[in-house]
Parts: sequence; structure tokens; C-alpha cells
Amino acid sequence: MLTQEKKLELLKLAVKGAENAHCPYSHFRVGAAVMGRSGKVYLGGNIENVSYGATVCAERIAIWKAVSEGEKDFEAIAVVGPGTKEAYPCAQCRQVMVEFGLDWLVISGDEQGNYMGERTVSELVPFPFVPSALLGE
Ligand code: THU
Repeated sequence: MLTQEKKLELLKLAVKGAENAHCPYSHFRVGAAVMGRSGKVYLGGNIENVSYGATVCAERIAIWKAVSEGEKDFEAIAVVGPGTKEAYPCAQCRQVMVEFGLDWLVISGDEQGNYMGERTVSELVPFPFVPSALLGE
């Protein structure tokens, strides 16, 4: 279980992730910080492309960084978006989260990293398509 202090720390790191977002088309700056069970944190910002469909969300950037470094068991991901609204991941990112388990935490923050709420992956994806489905389990 993450303490509230750790959650706030992760939100601040997500704000740092947003600093390197490349979002010249939407100007919608998103940041993410995913924490592995090892305790290591990986940052991400959304990276857009002039061929819009090649854009990748902040959450997936952070998760890809972790997975490509060998970390697949996650404790939590913090997500921050522009303004004072809570930021929650898009459906594609939610599916990517499901790939790595249902029982981890998505912490939502505003632009400044203020805590706005949290949900587990299974709360965000109540009827998930899980890896074991391919095996008929
Ligand atoms: N975006 C994210 O990075 N994460 C989300 O959860 C929602 C959307 C990005 C993608 C695109 O660069 C911009 O926000 C506008 O959709």
C-alpha cells in the first residue's frame, strides 16, 4: 500500500514527466509517472506526431519505458493533465494497463500535481479483456 505522501511524490514526478511532453498540435500536455514493485519510477509525457495517429500518450510512454527496462509489475501510475481537472487515462492506455494486472493504482492529479483521486485498474476497466482470455481460461 502506498502512503499518501508517496502518492503525492509520484504526482510531482508526473508533473516532471509532462515537462518533456511533445504536444505542438493539441497543446494538451500530459504527464505520467509509473512506479514498479521494485520502487523504481519511470516518467512519461505525451509525444505527438505530425501524422497524428502516431501520437503516444504519456501513460504508455512511461509504461513502455518501464517494460523495456524489464519492469512489468506495477504498484501505481500517477497521471496529470492540463488545468485544474482530474486526469484519467484514455481507453487505449487502460487496456495497456490491464496487460500488466488489474490490481494496481491509477492516481489522478491536476496540472500542478494536486491529488484529485484514485482508482484501481479494475475499477477503470470493469469487464477487462485479459491476457488469459487468449488461452481460453
Ligand atoms: N493524452 C495522453 O497523453 N493521455 C491521456 O490519457 C489522454 C490523452 C494525450 C494524447 C494527445 O497527445 C493529447 O493528449 C490530446 O489527446
